[in-house]
Amino acid sequence: MNAIQSGKGFVDLFPPQSDIFTAIEQRARTVFARFACKELRTPIIEFTELFVRGIGDDTDVVQKEMYTFLDRKNRSMTLRPEATAGVLRACIQHKLFHPDAVSKFFTIGPMFRYERPQKGRQRQFHQINVEVLGSPSYLADVDVLFMLHAFLSEIGLSRLVFELNNLGCPQCRPAFRRTLDDYFNQLPQTSFCADCQRRIRTNPLRVLDCKVPACREITRDAPSIADHVCSLCKLHFDQVLALLDESGLETRLNPFLVRGLDYYQGTTFEVVSTDIGAQSSVAGGGRYDGLVRLLGGPDIPGIGFACGMERLAMLVPGNQDPALDAFLAVKNEQSLSKAVILAHTLRTSGFCIELPFEYRSIKSQLRTANKLNARTCIILDDEPGIYPAILCKNMVTGEQTHCPEDQLSQYLLTTSRP
Ligand code: HAM
Repeated sequence: MNAIQSGKGFVDLFPPQSDIFTAIEQRARTVFARFACKELRTPIIEFTELFVRGIGDDTDVVQKEMYTFLDRKNRSMTLRPEATAGVLRACIQHKLFHPDAVSKFFTIGPMFRYERPQKGRQRQFHQINVEVLGSPSYLADVDVLFMLHAFLSEIGLSRLVFELNNLGCPQCRPAFRRTLDDYFNQLPQTSFCADCQRRIRTNPLRVLDCKVPACREITRDAPSIADHVCSLCKLHFDQVLALLDESGLETRLNPFLVRGLDYYQGTTFEVVSTDIGAQSSVAGGGRYDGLVRLLGGPDIPGIGFACGMERLAMLVPGNQDPALDAFLAVKNEQSLSKAVILAHTLRTSGFCIELPFEYRSIKSQLRTANKLNARTCIILDDEPGIYPAILCKNMVTGEQTHCPEDQLSQYLLTTSRP
């Protein structure tokens, strides 16, 4: 019978990759806790309407990339393509907005987009997502960027570029839209890709984001939104840039950064890497002040970001596979049961221990200890009358020491932990 394979773009995670994911997640939790950012877990499936309304009907995500299906009662449901809409839905539904302070939530988990799979792009991928709700201040923008920067630095990523743009607000964007309309309409429509010919009519800003080379060529000379934002939007963004500059966080302005989701306004950003190929964006986010209201909630501003875990994992330095503190080998079959008990005692003291359940030659057990990357091999010889019965072999130096059982923890602490 044929073995069943996973679907295209649906990837299994196993060691060492799954260890890297766990390490990244743990670091995210530690860093976000310092910002008083709490975890929120929302369903993976939501009503389709949430994403159509939240992300925007004319986005690629909604038009082409959602996994949408009818449930048994003929309701249209969708596997979440991103976390923001679901987080805001949960905040509105459970009134999670703090009356006197900002509310900060992070979400970690799988997202689903029907895209063409390639390096760094999957149909099921994972995001670490942060939302900060309740402040319109430029200080919130800067603090969110600090949170993202702190997290990326702490997982060892430094060669990254923070790109920023100002998308303006509902007051100044219509005028810019008309300027863009005029610019695109004086060009032969056939010079645009089929999607952009439609976008020019529905949302010309999306054309700036098109990745098709011919469209990129045309948009290079298109009017820049930075020259068309209102004075309030300009002031807000200038304050963000000035404070970031003062803090030493390096940024680069990218006037073509419009982001693929319709809810953004004002400050938007992407963190890009030149080390992971075409899918270079490791994180993206921005301000979405009208979104809570659009989803039926109060008029509460917000800003947030999401990092793509697969792309982070491609960049984190070094092998994060944790080595075993010790492999417990036995010299004879009757020592196996004693080994299980000793392993349990050592694990209770916090050590990472592995051991065999079937007896094999000591040579073969040492080979296993080596393969499992154990720092120490504890060799147990439980034959009556033999003393001392425990031999510890340092797998890095090869040095061997007899060790009384009640001093094993101390031995492992001093010799096995780097
Ligand atoms: P996004 O830019 O669509 O933003 O996605 C954020 C990150 O998710 C990207 O920078 C990328 O690293 C990763 N990503 C997206 N699609 C894929 C894929 N198919 N395969 C692998 N990785 C992928 C959002 O999703 C917004 N909700 C972020 C946000 C939160 N804005 C405000 N709050």
